[in-house]
Amino acid sequence: MAEETLKSGILTNLFFEIIQSPVNIALVLLIVFLVYKIIKSRQNDFAVPPPAPQLPKLKKRDFTVEELKQYDGTQEDGRVLVAVNGKVYDVTKGKRFYGPGGPYAAFGGKDASRGLATFNVSASGEKYDDLSDLSTVEMDSVREWESQFQEKYDFIGRLLKPGEQPTNYSDEEDEPSSSTAEKPKDE
Ligand code: HEM
Ligand SMILES: *[C@@H]1O[C@H](CO)[C@@H](O)[C@H](O)[C@H]1NC(C)=O
Ligand SMILES: *[C@@H]1O[C@H](CO)[C@@H](O)[C@H](O)[C@H]1NC(C)=O
Repeated sequence: MAEETLKSGILTNLFFEIIQSPVNIALVLLIVFLVYKIIKSRQNDFAVPPPAPQLPKLKKRDFTVEELKQYDGTQEDGRVLVAVNGKVYDVTKGKRFYGPGGPYAAFGGKDASRGLATFNVSASGEKYDDLSDLSTVEMDSVREWESQFQEKYDFIGRLLKPGEQPTNYSDEEDEPSSSTAEKPKDE
């Protein structure tokens, strides 16, 4: 109780002290104005929708390390794929991370497993990496990252070991392609 009264007493005194001086009033107005400007500019940032040129979803397929390499975002369509723990994901919507000039551009078109597990962006090599020398903790980290990618991005297929045959996904047409055999619609 006593503390409450004391607190509100201090606040009241402060309030009267401020409104007694025109300089203080001017400063308070300035602060209010600046805060308003900051909030407004934040809102504008959110109001601008990010340009999202949606690429058509890739058909399910497997990739060799060589084939994956071209999907680093430098091609015409700008698609970016990243492999984690043997799974290839379409990370095009995270292009600001993995695309050219992004902080993790070194992962674009690559198997990022080792790099993610060892916190080393440069550790994605040119050749197939079986990750067999990673520690248990590092492999746990790889799986952790895999599930994060799984949640955020589209799974496209598997990363193939040298000599491994690609899976034939053609009969697993999970999405009926509506564009080809569409009935004419009446409005
Ligand atoms: C100084 C060190 C680092 C800082 C300050 C940092 C900062 C960040 C931030 C702020 C994000 C989230 C961006 C967003 O969601 O908008 C992010 C995401 C990420 N970071 Fe880092 N990072 C650092 C180091 C690393 C390292 C060493 C790696 C791996 C080698 C890494 C891999 C990633 C990945 C894969 C993402 C997720 C991007 C996605 O959502 O697809 N980061 N980082
Ligand atoms: C990161 O990986 C690269 C390539 O393997 C290696 O040369 C470099 O020493 C590594 N950096 C660290 C900090 O381990
Ligand atoms: C893949 O499966 C489809 C349909 O089942 C078949 O027509 C095609 O020949 C197969 N391709 C290969 C490379 O096995």
